[in-house]
Amino acid sequence: MGGETMGRRPSSCIVLAKCLPMSESITIRTATVADRLVIAHHRTAMFVDMGWSLDEERAAALRVTTASWLEQAMPRGEYVGWLAQSEAAPERVVAGAGVQLRRILPFPRRLIDGTVSIAEGRQAIVVNVYTEPEFRRRGTARRLMETVIGWARSVRLESLVLHAAPDGEALYRSLGFERTNEMRYTRL
Ligand SMILES: CC(C)(COP(=O)(O)OP(=O)(O)OC[C@H]1O[C@@H](n2cnc3c(N)ncnc32)[C@H](O)[C@@H]1OP(=O)(O)O)[C@@H](O)C(=O)NCCC(=O)NCCS
Repeated sequence: MGGETMGRRPSSCIVLAKCLPMSESITIRTATVADRLVIAHHRTAMFVDMGWSLDEERAAALRVTTASWLEQAMPRGEYVGWLAQSEAAPERVVAGAGVQLRRILPFPRRLIDGTVSIAEGRQAIVVNVYTEPEFRRRGTARRLMETVIGWARSVRLESLVLHAAPDGEALYRSLGFERTNEMRYTRL
């Protein structure tokens, strides 16, 4: 997976001087275990942008433990990630998204045509969706999510799930994600 290129500029660039020129193109590639530090940075920055006020000690702890988790999970195929980088400066990763694969118990599910089939429980949770602030609103997260969905189809997953932050909800809805009845218990 890789080599998908885009150069779309959002309408807001008409008024934003900081927007990059039309020639700025972004390439999406699959992440490797060597990218674990940038993915760990995305994850930490994502939580901060979602409202978690992490002091530097806790932010560093999240980065270190995430990188270490990825070092184990990526070679096993338990985590698959994608990174968006500038074509002009490939060392500059501007956004990312990933999935954690998980196998759940089989369950009945209704297909688009209304019939019911038994799903084997091949599911992934979408995580670490993050775009660097100066690269936002130019379609990068959308392209990453389209890549994730395309990949999920290609490996024949049955569903993708995610927990939407307010900034991401419109994007996920526009791609076809729907609210479910999931509940959570955290008093453990
Ligand atoms: C959410 C986020 C990943 C979007 O990244 P992005 O690259 O700017 O997204 P895109 O440019 O692809 O935008 C796609 C759509 O998302 C929506 N969107 C993007 N940013 C949004 C925001 N801040 N508020 C509401 N909707 C937003 C828009 O509907 C947009 O469609 P449009 O192009 O028709 O306007 C980015 O704002 C971010 O990193 N936020 C902080 C971390 C976070 O909340 N991650 C999501 C965790 S679930």
